[in-house]
Amino acid sequence: MTLRSEEDLLLPARLSIIVPCYNEAENVAPMVAALSRVLAEEYWEVIFVDDNSPDGTSARVSDIAKNDPRVRVVRRVGRRGLSSAVIEGFLSSSATYVAVMDGDLQHDESVLPKMLAALDAGSQMVVGSRHVEGGDNAGLAGHWRHLLSDTGIRAAQVVLPHPLTDPMSGFFVMRRDLFTATLPKLSGTGFKILLDLVMSVPKETRITEVPFVFRPRVAGESKLDVVVLLQFATMLLDKLTHGWLPTRFLAFALVGLVGVIVNVAVMQLARVSGMDFSQSQLIGTAVAILTNFLLNNRLTYHDRRLKGARMWRGFALFAAVCSVGVFANIGVARMVLHDLGHGHWDRASAAGAVIGVVWNYAVSSTLIWR
Ligand code: GDD
Ligand code: MN
Repeated sequence: MTLRSEEDLLLPARLSIIVPCYNEAENVAPMVAALSRVLAEEYWEVIFVDDNSPDGTSARVSDIAKNDPRVRVVRRVGRRGLSSAVIEGFLSSSATYVAVMDGDLQHDESVLPKMLAALDAGSQMVVGSRHVEGGDNAGLAGHWRHLLSDTGIRAAQVVLPHPLTDPMSGFFVMRRDLFTATLPKLSGTGFKILLDLVMSVPKETRITEVPFVFRPRVAGESKLDVVVLLQFATMLLDKLTHGWLPTRFLAFALVGLVGVIVNVAVMQLARVSGMDFSQSQLIGTAVAILTNFLLNNRLTYHDRRLKGARMWRGFALFAAVCSVGVFANIGVARMVLHDLGHGHWDRASAAGAVIGVVWNYAVSSTLIWR
């Protein structure tokens, strides 16, 4: 812990580094040490935003903060969510520049000086990229994850008003005044804070990219990347519907659509392997319900995620709710078909599906993921 002089303690930070964390206790001290090393010439502070992690992340930060005024912790109780944690970190800063970094050492802190130099040179936002010359995605495990990551990025590039090679990186620095001006436009419930910001800042904003190497995680566990694409599709839908429907409902409906595809695919597979129609239908439905539950738990209700015994209890309830939904679906479809639709089966099944999704959503939101 070397501060350049006693007087330095009285000077305000020029840079706040926001580190959202959940169960990162083992990574706190190495993170502070790494920042101290690369930012020796800078006036900085680090703000860990911890959602009351059971592993005691907050206490670790407080221990270090006792002897180092550059270290702070914002501890949120009763809430979860990466985006909202980052936003609250921003709001607790008074610095000119704000950086956002993961708390698991996957984001390479040694590029921070370069990012700050770009801000000093007139950029308003600097994004760390794994996909420009010199960057690397080594820390992403597996071929499947790479494919998903690349597809997500390509999809993002279609709608982004700013050409970015890596809009999902999650590692960036920006002027705090730009953030403050953009805050009212943020979707808030957004899953990807960087995407949300880049979509919301004025078109003429000066954004530059700096390459970095995404390191593998050493301690703690990561979240699945399978949901990245769905997260993005939700955001896209949100943009297309101009925020008319709740983001959570859009995510839920999208997961439902994936469920339909899973259902049909599994059913076909079961048919091919010799099962009769009702057996195949049963298996297809069961697998779809399980996939939907897991995806909703990871994506739609990301911030209220169920774990352990509570998860299995939630699953049992979800399966029951979905079964009722299936009957409601069939019932409404029949009714529309016979009484209103005069034989239009497409309209009938669409009406049934809408009622089914609304029912499942209403009950899931109030009873399962409260
Ligand atoms: N406060 C808070 N609340 N922090 C959270 C929460 C939460 O609910 N969920 C995750 N975090 C913290 C983690 O502790 C970590 O510091 C950081 O957010 C990123 O979470 P990881 O679980 O490590 O995510 P990842 O490695 O899969 O994803 C990272 O890389 C992606 C690119 O592949 C993130 O940087 C993503 O934003 C990025 O898209
Ligand atoms: Mn990570």
